[in-house]
Amino acid sequence: MINKPSCPINLFDVQSSQKVIGQEKFLQAFEKILNHGGYCQGPETKELDAKLAEFSGAKYAVTCSSGTDSLILPLMAWGVKEGDAVFVSSFTFVASAEAPAILGATPIFVDSDPDTWDMDVKDLERQIERVKQEGKLNLKAVVAVDIFGNPCDYDAIKAVAHKYGMKVLSDAAQSYGSIYKGKRAGSVADMTSTSFYPTKPLACYGDGGAVMTNSEEERDLMVSCRVHGMSPEDHYDNVRMGLNARMDSFQAAVLLLKMTVLEKELKDREVIAQRYNNELDSYFKTQKVLDNCQSARALYTVQCEDRDELMAFLKEHGIPCGAYYPRPVNTQTAYQKWNTRSLPVCEKLSKTVLSIPMHPYLSKEAQDYVIAMMNEFAAKKKSKAA
Ligand SMILES: Cc1ncc(COP(=O)(O)O)c(C=O)c1O
Repeated sequence: MINKPSCPINLFDVQSSQKVIGQEKFLQAFEKILNHGGYCQGPETKELDAKLAEFSGAKYAVTCSSGTDSLILPLMAWGVKEGDAVFVSSFTFVASAEAPAILGATPIFVDSDPDTWDMDVKDLERQIERVKQEGKLNLKAVVAVDIFGNPCDYDAIKAVAHKYGMKVLSDAAQSYGSIYKGKRAGSVADMTSTSFYPTKPLACYGDGGAVMTNSEEERDLMVSCRVHGMSPEDHYDNVRMGLNARMDSFQAAVLLLKMTVLEKELKDREVIAQRYNNELDSYFKTQKVLDNCQSARALYTVQCEDRDELMAFLKEHGIPCGAYYPRPVNTQTAYQKWNTRSLPVCEKLSKTVLSIPMHPYLSKEAQDYVIAMMNEFAAKKKSKAA
């Protein structure tokens, strides 16, 4: 029996990096913005576009107001509309499917791989064939979600999507900084969207997002769509439908500072994840990361048959945890008209997953305690079953 340590145990930590970077640096950056007055899409956002592109190995990054908008903008640039089929993971945060749906397209839900928990490529191909046979929708795009930060099998997904003339949008909301076969998220799929919501691996102090692309044409379209479809020549002529999806300069300033510690934070997350992988009882199933890939470890999640009991046990012992996500998107009320079949792996995941504390500032004592309590639960369960 190990006692709860006095240090804090948080599921996420949205504040510690402030101290590590130095609070005065944030205040100086904010003061600069107050003085230049370019509050929205000021010089900080332009600098951030360049830094994000460089870090992810993409030619361009287009910052925007949220991860959700970072999914809508590329789909707008590809002309996604009513009558289009967009194939999307169902074991995800709702925005991955909301983006095509809000543009009038039909989300076609794809089941998950039982080991990586990302999109199941075989099921993707089956669904594409089914929609093709039905002949009612245009095969348009695939939205592949790197769930919990874990990169999808992009070579396989791109091979299938491209075979049918479709583009692949990576939803890297949880995986900015992840690596797929030597390439950072942002330079793997046809376009990549990400979120900078405070709990994400690269996070601002409010809402923010970005899209990465290698195409100048796509970049220009998204820059236009980000501001109501504005023409680059005449700002009072709107030449297409768009959004108000600008990033404000304060969030960009925060992200520029946060990027100075990102690599270290990603490494520290990985060290904790490896410790959990090695020391947690095999009673818990862990998420498989593909060879030559690295997850951004936005969340550390296990599968456990007695998930609700485990959650209650951990909470009782002062360990915060959460079930992400308790309902696959296809089962949610607003998505019923597209809920055409059961997705057994997604359903199983939503009943068995539990995310435990994971962030770069989780102390060794906190990790020891989390591991000890998880293993105590496993030992009790195993001795009962014996
Ligand atoms: C997989 C995924 N996609 C999209 C989003 C949407 O990002 P935002 O909340 O920044 O709009 C999130 C946010 O939680 C997410 O986890």
